[in-house]
Amino acid sequence: MRLGSYFLGESVLVKYQQSFSVNFQYDVVFTYDLFAPSNDVLSEVIGKQGGRVLFFIDDGLLVHWPQLPLAIQEWTQSRVSAVECAAPPQSVPGGERIKNDLTIMDRVGELTATCGLCRHSYAVIIGGGAVLDAVGFAATAIHRGLRQIRIPTTVLAQLDSGVGVKNSLNRFGMKNYYGFFAPPFAVINDSRFLETLPVRDWISGISEAFKVAVIKDRSFLDFLWENATRLSERDPQVMNRVIRRCAELHLNHIRESEDAFERGLTRPLDFGHWAAHRLESISGHSLRHGEAVALGIAIDLHCGVSLGLISAEDCEYVCSAMERCGLSLWHDSLLKRSPSGGLEVLAGIEQFREHMGGRLTLAMPSGLGSYTDISDLPHYVVVEAIEHLKRRSAP
Ligand SMILES: NC(=O)c1ccc[n+]([C@@H]2O[C@H](COP(=O)([O-])OP(=O)(O)OC[C@H]3O[C@@H](n4cnc5c(N)ncnc54)[C@H](O)[C@@H]3O)[C@@H](O)[C@H]2O)c1
Ligand SMILES: [Zn+2]
Repeated sequence: MRLGSYFLGESVLVKYQQSFSVNFQYDVVFTYDLFAPSNDVLSEVIGKQGGRVLFFIDDGLLVHWPQLPLAIQEWTQSRVSAVECAAPPQSVPGGERIKNDLTIMDRVGELTATCGLCRHSYAVIIGGGAVLDAVGFAATAIHRGLRQIRIPTTVLAQLDSGVGVKNSLNRFGMKNYYGFFAPPFAVINDSRFLETLPVRDWISGISEAFKVAVIKDRSFLDFLWENATRLSERDPQVMNRVIRRCAELHLNHIRESEDAFERGLTRPLDFGHWAAHRLESISGHSLRHGEAVALGIAIDLHCGVSLGLISAEDCEYVCSAMERCGLSLWHDSLLKRSPSGGLEVLAGIEQFREHMGGRLTLAMPSGLGSYTDISDLPHYVVVEAIEHLKRRSAP
């Protein structure tokens, strides 16, 4: 920090220039069967100093794992020196509805207040991306930030949202309108949870792997192409490799971009997302985030062809691989019109600009495996891309 007084002119008598940086560090651990009696991953993450812990569990997960709260309690009771459960594990609504309802703030806040949790206590959040986002948002606001341990239980959350630094709630018809940048204390990916994931969620999460592969890693894209059928058939070994590589690419990006809190304009990890977020909203959240991302990627790939950024063959290579994984590249909300007659999805471009700040900057593929930023996306290019997808989806 520089502190000093300078003569700066008539109106400014003194100016202090404050500057400091904060270092964040967190572990991302891969395991199997986290709450098995012999599994010490969570207690090792919490460390020797121990701490008070409150568990939040996605109720959609609990349908398939009704024994989980008991397993957690038995697991913590056998480690009382390291982990103290502040209250029994709490069930919270799974899926997008938790992000659409601000009452989650007070629900988590009241509970943590009743239990007397402090900023050195841990909110351990177990669930899909929506639960991680919503409970993570509340936990970030409480005491200006409880320690958060994320245990993602969907493909999408394990390979993308869970390992990142953001959380959010939806508001005023906009995805992620409220939100914080808040790095977790740790992330633990337990592949056992994926065994009960419905096919729809298994497949929809794969779109985020295509997203990062298209803009960052051509050989990973080829791996996805070669293994598309095995992914659609729920091959756990292939999925584990996909999740690891994706998590690595995300972690590398967050670290190496030196812009973890997205103050700059370039956002490669948001490739395909201007349309995806809009489509989620206009479909009344009947589309999963991952499903909307597949549509957003397909739109942007076709726009990329029109703009001369990628070849039609490359566009087809990615689209057909996504389809072989089971991802659909069409949804009727793409044709939804606003009262003025325009396609509703187009409003996503301006909403994206507002959300990201500054001038419009969209990451687009530049060939396969790298990207370029564009600052304008003419509506007619998007309309043509959607017409292309419509024709493509016709029987
Ligand atoms: N914070 C970020 O950086 C970031 C990044 C990408 C996506 N997201 C957000 O993530 C959300 C999507 O997450 P998602 O794809 O995980 O979907 P989701 O959280 O909506 O979960 C999908 C469904 O699966 C259920 N479920 C969760 N785990 C299960 C399991 N193991 N077995 C059976 N059912 C299970 C849930 O209850 C829910 O019904 C969106 O809100 C999106 O905006 C956030
Ligand atoms: Zn996403």
